[in-house]
Amino acid sequence: MQNVMLNNGVEMPTLGFGVYNISNREVVHCVREAIECGYRLIDTAQWYGNEDGVGRAVAECGLPRDQIFLTTKLQSGRGVAESVEESLRKLRSEYIDLLLIHWPMGDDATIWATMERLYECGKLRAIGLSNFYGSDFENILRCCKVVPQVIQQELHPFRQQTALVERYRQLGLVPQAWSPLACGRENIFTNPTLMRIGAAHGKTAAQVALRFLVQCGICPIPKTTHKERMAENRAIFDFSLDANELTDLRALDLGHGLFGWYD
Ligand SMILES: NC(=O)c1ccc[n+]([C@@H]2O[C@H](COP(=O)([O-])OP(=O)(O)OC[C@H]3O[C@@H](n4cnc5c(N)ncnc54)[C@H](OP(=O)(O)O)[C@@H]3O)[C@@H](O)[C@H]2O)c1
Repeated sequence: MQNVMLNNGVEMPTLGFGVYNISNREVVHCVREAIECGYRLIDTAQWYGNEDGVGRAVAECGLPRDQIFLTTKLQSGRGVAESVEESLRKLRSEYIDLLLIHWPMGDDATIWATMERLYECGKLRAIGLSNFYGSDFENILRCCKVVPQVIQQELHPFRQQTALVERYRQLGLVPQAWSPLACGRENIFTNPTLMRIGAAHGKTAAQVALRFLVQCGICPIPKTTHKERMAENRAIFDFSLDANELTDLRALDLGHGLFGWYD
């Protein structure tokens, strides 16, 4: 599995496995299968209600804890230190590899300061943001002692945010793509451009979409409950898109989000 180096020297798998909308019961099986398929990054959140199942799957998978990269996200700005302890308990871990503020919560500077303290004492190996745009993002940049390592945003072929992604690169933040397959919207799996390019490489539309993100320096975290799709979504490191293909894929950008939030 390919890794990316964060701005603090921590290595993060380029590709991860997302578990939004998977029940706490089902997630145990899904995460176990994802790890069997070779995924080493699991993306959960307090809000998903399945940290407990993720923790169980990781504890029982037979790999040492340091072989798995666990991301979770804060649901609320109240009692941050306590809620991190609760996540650690559910995840059955002494540390979290990456903690994100799930969305702007108003008192973000205070939340960030608490996260910095937990980062400095080793409970968090990396810290970052999700769904932070405009002044919410600039406020964190202004007040932070620890520059965020990762920013998770809606990113897929229909929502490319090219200028922002370039800014993250200049600032040293790794962009991570939520809904990298647009959650199936806009008929992504039968999109003619994605399918045509896929056919030239013996790949599916999903694989082209994920490969495109990786070649743009973006780390995708696709979700699926099907083992064959887990394997499919992982098989993106054995081909390369050329300049013409990248140009055609750039043209798929719609210039707006598909989910009606965080635009
Ligand atoms: N930070 C945030 O605010 C935020 C927001 C949204 C998501 N996320 C994270 O990002 C992860 C991924 O986003 P997402 O779950 O919204 O959407 P996604 O990964 O873009 O797409 C998932 C959908 O695509 C289907 N799918 C996956 N691989 C496929 C393939 N190869 N062929 C055909 N269908 C396929 C899945 O169906 P099946 O499961 O039936 O296979 C599911 O319906 C989440 O799980 C979560 O961890 C974060």
